[in-house]
Amino acid sequence: MKGRKARGQILYPRHIAVIMDGNGRWAKKRLLPRGAGHRAGLKRMLELTEHAFLSGARYLTLYALSAENLQRPKEELDGLYALFRDYFSGNVSTLIKKGIRLKVIGDMSLLPPDIVELIANGERETAAGKGGLLILAIAYGARQEIVAAVNRAVSAGRAVDEAQFSSLLKTDGVPDPDLLIRTGKEQRLSNFLLWQSAYTELYFSDKMFPDFTSADFDRAVSDFLERDRRYGKLTPESEVII
Ligand code: FPP
Repeated sequence: MKGRKARGQILYPRHIAVIMDGNGRWAKKRLLPRGAGHRAGLKRMLELTEHAFLSGARYLTLYALSAENLQRPKEELDGLYALFRDYFSGNVSTLIKKGIRLKVIGDMSLLPPDIVELIANGERETAAGKGGLLILAIAYGARQEIVAAVNRAVSAGRAVDEAQFSSLLKTDGVPDPDLLIRTGKEQRLSNFLLWQSAYTELYFSDKMFPDFTSADFDRAVSDFLERDRRYGKLTPESEVII
């Protein structure tokens, strides 16, 4: 899908964030183990990543594992860690080829050290990419991120304004998401990008993540393009009406 013009602006969302929810229910419906749902989710994630950047997004942030998800049973976490290992050892060369830079946000101290090392290598090897930024949120929690930023400001002994506070977050330098998509029928943020999504447009899909196709992604973007983003102000049109 190509970006199009509305009210004189090119409007393909620059930054899209996705809560990839519903892998477990997708598997359960098929009488498969939860791990099979995560594997199907990874396949979909690869497709959507390519699609989003080809379509015009410059930043894509994917919620792959919340800090709270780390309390899931060991068997499920081990399956997810195996997928992370596969992903970071097998996909970095594709990202390099496509010029996509990789960044991981989250609490690395909560992850197995070998995965932390694979992540660091992936970030280093893709650092020169100019075609887009793929941000994976792994062992991520927005409240934890905010508290860490507050503590950094306090220990520096300085009051901060909004821009300075933003620069203390893990998304320093990344524009706030324009559109946040959540699959899997739930309608909540689940501790994802709470500060950054203050004015983000939200889109909820009933589809489970492994079923959420590129065409569904395009529908979410089309829906976004129809919206009137006012950031709490009046648009010229609404000024006329009032
Ligand atoms: C939420 O669905 C999804 C996850 C906790 C894992 C998401 C992981 C992937 C899409 C693939 C691997 C990612 C990388 C970065 C290699 P859920 O299990 O909570 O679904 P449910 O609500 O139906 O139980």
